[in-house]
Amino acid sequence: MAAPFTVLIMAAGQGTRMRSHTAKVLHEVCGKPMVEWVIDAARAAGAGRVVCITRPGDGVAERLPEGVLVAEQREGEGTGAAVLAARDVVEDGAVVILSGDTPLVTAEHVRGLVEAHASEAAQVTILTTEELDPAGYGRIVRGGAGQVERIVETKYPDSVPTQELAIREINLGTYVVDAPLLFDALDGVPLDDNGERYLTGVVPAVRDRGGLVSAFTTADAAIALGVNDRAGLMEAERLAQQRLIHDHAERGVSFLSPGTTRVEAAVTIGSDTTIAQGVSLLGATEIGEGCEIGPHSTLHDTRVGDRTVVLHTYATGAEVHGGARIGPFAYLRPGTVIRANAKVGTFVEVKNSDVGEGAKVPHLSYIGDADVGDGANLGASTITANYDGRKKHRTKLGKSAKTGIHTSLVAPVHVGDRAYTGAGSVITGDVPDGALGIAREKQKNIEGYADRVEEDS
Ligand code: UD1
Ligand code: MG
Repeated sequence: MAAPFTVLIMAAGQGTRMRSHTAKVLHEVCGKPMVEWVIDAARAAGAGRVVCITRPGDGVAERLPEGVLVAEQREGEGTGAAVLAARDVVEDGAVVILSGDTPLVTAEHVRGLVEAHASEAAQVTILTTEELDPAGYGRIVRGGAGQVERIVETKYPDSVPTQELAIREINLGTYVVDAPLLFDALDGVPLDDNGERYLTGVVPAVRDRGGLVSAFTTADAAIALGVNDRAGLMEAERLAQQRLIHDHAERGVSFLSPGTTRVEAAVTIGSDTTIAQGVSLLGATEIGEGCEIGPHSTLHDTRVGDRTVVLHTYATGAEVHGGARIGPFAYLRPGTVIRANAKVGTFVEVKNSDVGEGAKVPHLSYIGDADVGDGANLGASTITANYDGRKKHRTKLGKSAKTGIHTSLVAPVHVGDRAYTGAGSVITGDVPDGALGIAREKQKNIEGYADRVEEDS
């Protein structure tokens, strides 16, 4: 594609069939609003300017990525009214029009369409397919010589003649048009029975003005999907998920059970990583190379370094460095940093804490607001008492510190480097470097106890 072109994205439709308080194009597909998928495709295709048409107060403008311009559709209903709202921001020449509810449109298709438009010297070029169930879509009516004559909407099929309902070629809502001809033609498009001005009405209007309307046909059914209801959203989700997993696989990631895996759009995964069954990778999660994730782990906004193992774990807002081992059955909460080669094991919850290099928290612990030194080893069921009912306090464990099982660390408290705590201790005061802190009742034995109680009974 030669010069950068302007892309208009129609995103102001109410989408009443979604039955939602959220604007249709803000509904997410694989964790990313539909309209953002379309914006990304436009940019990847080489768009110079991207203009999004929104409705005042619909919340869409606030959610758009940086650099996207906004034109408000203040009056009129329908896709034609949407495009008219952008009249003042469009310069003369070819303009790409996309729909904010077609999240699977690709950069390749937009580019192909722009190239076809130029090579055919058309005034309007429409992306079409015959590979989708055509119900509800606009059908392409061609003349005897194969030329595109008009588009028939079939949302209300009762009013559509049978021979037009039999047409399989549909309009995908993706076009290249020449301005200012587009706007002149749109001015003349009459309102339909519902008071909507259809963008598709420009086809005969452009032809009447002597313009050429051409179609660019794709066999890729997935890109065609226009989401108008929750069923469509589910289908878009399914197809987008397949596409994302396929792309990761091409970059060297193995999926043991792709059908049970959820990978959201912004996630990155290094090569030679294996994703087992039942894994969800959400938000801005980043996974390194050579990792083993799952089975059954959910990682949300979590960074995982190279060669890390994360089994049956739920992590959100955490950072896990290379070579660490997490789980099975660990819960990492926001502000958690697990340093290289550390281990967080079974039934362990960590929150807002820094677990040092090679440190081990293997079993049944709650570590909250703590700094655990490099090489420390926490006995089973070591618990930080970080909350006094009013405020949170920090616990600090020095390098190579070792806590006995069932140690309670009542914060604020500091256990020194190479220090120990005795099993069952409630540590309320600092333990100096290299010392042993024991804080528990001394054992006493009552001799002959069994004989005594057995005699009584
Ligand atoms: C539209 C096409 C149809 C095509 C289908 C492909 C028209 C008249 N019909 O139908 O031929 O097969 O897309 O998916 O164009 N919008 C606005 N302002 C409005 C109305 C809609 O910005 O006043 C936006 C919507 O947010 C949506 C897009 O335009 O992103 C398409 O509108 P929608 O109502 O979904 O049209 P369809 O009935 O799907
Ligand atoms: Mg639609």
